[in-house]
Amino acid sequence: MSKLWAGRASGKINEAAESFNASISFDKRLITEDVKGSIAHAAMLGKQGIIPQKDSDMIIEGLAGILDDLSSGALEVDPTAEDVHTFVEQALIARIGDAGKKLHTARSRNDQVALDMKLYARNAAEEIVYSLKTLVAALADKAEEYKGAVMSGYTHLQRAQPVTFGHHLAAYCYMFLRDMDRIKDAIKRLNLSPIGSAALAGTTFPTDRKFEASTLGFDGVVENSMDGVSDRDYVVELSADLALVMTHLSRLSEEIVLWSSFEFGYITLSDDFTTGSSIMPQKKNPDIAELTRGKTGRVYGDLVSILTVLKSLPLAYNKDMQEDKEGFFDAVDTVKACLGVFAPMIEGITAKTERMAQAAKEGYINATDLADYLAKKGVPFREAYKIVGEIVRDATAKGVTLEEIPLEEYKKRSPAFDADLYEEISLETCVAKRTSEGGTAISSVEKQLASIRAKLNKY
Ligand code: ARG
Repeated sequence: MSKLWAGRASGKINEAAESFNASISFDKRLITEDVKGSIAHAAMLGKQGIIPQKDSDMIIEGLAGILDDLSSGALEVDPTAEDVHTFVEQALIARIGDAGKKLHTARSRNDQVALDMKLYARNAAEEIVYSLKTLVAALADKAEEYKGAVMSGYTHLQRAQPVTFGHHLAAYCYMFLRDMDRIKDAIKRLNLSPIGSAALAGTTFPTDRKFEASTLGFDGVVENSMDGVSDRDYVVELSADLALVMTHLSRLSEEIVLWSSFEFGYITLSDDFTTGSSIMPQKKNPDIAELTRGKTGRVYGDLVSILTVLKSLPLAYNKDMQEDKEGFFDAVDTVKACLGVFAPMIEGITAKTERMAQAAKEGYINATDLADYLAKKGVPFREAYKIVGEIVRDATAKGVTLEEIPLEEYKKRSPAFDADLYEEISLETCVAKRTSEGGTAISSVEKQLASIRAKLNKY
């Protein structure tokens, strides 16, 4: 395909250099954005009398035809075109002739590609927010189902204090809600139109940038044309937001892998979200969680890659910036794919509540409550802590739980112990008494879930 820029240069390029330079293989993804941006541009050119209205009308009709033919399959992207902008312009000229040659008045591929990327990023980000909403809803439902299921909470991956499975899952809802907030916030910042910046310096034509911006759903225009063509902050910002989504997914994935192991035995995944082994008949592997954990690495890579491309890049447009696309597309595709399988996987989780409760009983996770019991009876906490530490040490050696130690034994350790201690250290009591805001008591978790749902309804 001939080059848009044949003129000053011959337009003939070494074959290897040509394919090295070309971006059509990946920027064809921007074709809808490119055509819509061009329709807005043509409308502005006509309205402002920069080109005759009839040419503007012809261009818009021609571009709309391109969109239709692309979706029906009557038109295919030419893989030999240099980039998506070249392809669209040349397809237009092939359809409507000379009028099509006026479309590129008062713009450059530099502001055009900036526009296309912003339109794409905005749309992709909104879709991801929607997928996150679905995930949070699934997590909240699961949390509701298991708000009374006592399990051990962990610190240092050592059994720590009793919590409920619902409380644990609700914690993830908050992480993903923050992700939604962050992405929405990034959309707000990116939603200014760069079109009309032209190559870098603006243009001598009497354009109406605000008209183009509002046609395309922007809140306003980028105020500095050099910034308009050089800014890829939003790619960095959204990539960072997506990397954090993956961080959260990877933490949950890791827990799902652990919980579904024989050693924990806390949950089972539904069969349709696990795989078997080709050799070991007993296996039911949590591949979806593992793969999500693994894919986190590539999204981090995508973030570091765009940061590195932009580092030290002088103003304004540089061809380096073409490298903003593949990594960002990859991050978007990866996050969408992970979220797409994650919500239904969560729905298919069954908790083995008895096993969870049993593990909780064996972990001395009510030791803090026993020390608190003594403290409430007037024993200074430091002393209570030491007494209970010794009790736990002996109980561990004997292989008994705190509930199994007889009262006489307790009394030998401290006269402050009484029969009511058993009620105090039952795991149900330990959970039920943690009614502090954000705590693990059923009533506290119910408040959290109500708040999570209220936040979700705003999206
Ligand atoms: N394919 C280019 C990119 O993605 C489009 C902009 C080209 N501009 C230029 N002056 N060569 O960045």
